[in-house]
Amino acid sequence: MTGAERWKATARVRTPERLQALAAALAPLAHPGDVILLVGGLGAGKTTFAQGFARGLGITVPVTSPTFTLVRQYACTGPVRQLLHADVYRLETLAEIADLGLGELVDDGGVALVEWGDAAEPVLGAGALTVSLTPAPPPDDDVRLVTVTHGTTPWSDRRGAIERVFAEVTALGDEPVGSAGPELEPDADHAGEDSP
Ligand SMILES: Nc1ncnc2c1ncn2[C@@H]1O[C@H](COP(=O)(O)OP(=O)(O)OP(=O)(O)O)[C@@H](O)[C@H]1O
Ligand SMILES: [Mg+2]
Repeated sequence: MTGAERWKATARVRTPERLQALAAALAPLAHPGDVILLVGGLGAGKTTFAQGFARGLGITVPVTSPTFTLVRQYACTGPVRQLLHADVYRLETLAEIADLGLGELVDDGGVALVEWGDAAEPVLGAGALTVSLTPAPPPDDDVRLVTVTHGTTPWSDRRGAIERVFAEVTALGDEPVGSAGPELEPDADHAGEDSP
């Protein structure tokens, strides 16, 4: 991979429902074998994202945090046969993360969403898509800056589709920050309303 191959798409998302809508719209783009690393601090919205993503795969059962179970599995129909929802917060070593067997499970027709995915990056990062969730500073702390980046080629051919998803969600009223652009650009529609 070269630096030139890297790209990202970013949006500001104002509510959990909008984050779920974004995730639900991204889900049909996933291929069996994909790994998505969810990166963000406590309460950033990783599980919220996973709930929307599951909905986008047609999963109708409740999706709850896997913090204590480590991995939850949800069957789905379609090219992706199961969603693996993992949370590696409580794991201390890369060996423990590897022992979850997520790589093998996605190879069997699954897609994995991994909370605290930055910790899993050395084990699962090759080819993964990273979704970073960053709360805006007060008083906008319900706003999440959502940034998608990818590691290597498996996601390159889906760049346009991912950017369209971001464009559609931002058209609902959230603000595009742009793709492959700087971290955060001025929010012209809300200038003076919530700018620091
Ligand atoms: N724009 C937003 N997007 C997502 N969540 C939001 C947003 N605004 C507020 N929230 C709140 O932030 C919280 C996110 O909780 P969630 O469990 O999804 O986070 P998490 O990153 O999985 O946390 P943990 O690190 O404990 O696993 C929820 O209470 C949700 O209602
Ligand atoms: Mg969580």
